Amino acid sequence: MRSETVRSIIRSYDDPVVRAYCWVRFGILRQRFLDEIGQYLPETGPVLDIGCGFGLFSLYYAATGPGRLLRGLDVDARRIALARRAARRLGLDNAVYEEGDARDFKGDGEVAAAYMLDIVHHVPPASVPALLAALRRCLPPGGRLLVKDVDTRPAAKRWFTWALDKAMAPRTPVRYWSAPALASALDGAGFTVHRHLMVDVLPYPHVLYVCEARR
Ligand SMILES: C[S@@+](CC[C@H](N)C(=O)[O-])C[C@H]1O[C@@H](n2cnc3c(N)ncnc32)[C@H](O)[C@@H]1O
Repeated sequence: MRSETVRSIIRSYDDPVVRAYCWVRFGILRQRFLDEIGQYLPETGPVLDIGCGFGLFSLYYAATGPGRLLRGLDVDARRIALARRAARRLGLDNAVYEEGDARDFKGDGEVAAAYMLDIVHHVPPASVPALLAALRRCLPPGGRLLVKDVDTRPAAKRWFTWALDKAMAPRTPVRYWSAPALASALDGAGFTVHRHLMVDVLPYPHVLYVCEARR
């Protein structure tokens, strides 16, 4: 059933390049990763997806959690248009999308949870603390922010990830955070952080940060 959900999301995009990207993206972040991240999301309430891209993950978590309202934000207008169209085609009225820059994100009310999947390394480092603080303000005490990003170590895995990031989006700046540095920034923004590696068959240094908003 779940892999059928993934297939129907991929079919909802017309552009063969986007479909190919989605196969690769879902191929890398396998079902196990979707479940690993999804287990921390609440079943109901608004959930923010910062840097949502084409909407792959927000569409998945909207389809598998009809009580949630997924709210995706991305700086790329074309990706937002594709995400909106895919949501319409899939009949998901609990996934909505907005074009905007994460650097300007201030939050506009309380949400049940938020996540950022492979976006922190695309945001200029000086803007990350303000973004994390804005996310903290949107969450109730105990509310979760999930961050999936890549570590700087081991170096060989970082270079592998960098080469793929540059192949996908050559002009997009990339700056990886070491796991201790990002955990410290999250802590400084008011989160209690648990982090663990997400082991992959490909040499990605994935780290999942499970962050709970402190009082
Ligand atoms: C590697 S993609 C990840 C997309 C999606 N989270 C996923 O996991 O498939 C990074 C995304 O971040 C978006 N992005 C980069 N800088 C951004 C910014 N300053 N504000 C909002 N989105 C941004 C890009 O447009 C792109 O869609």
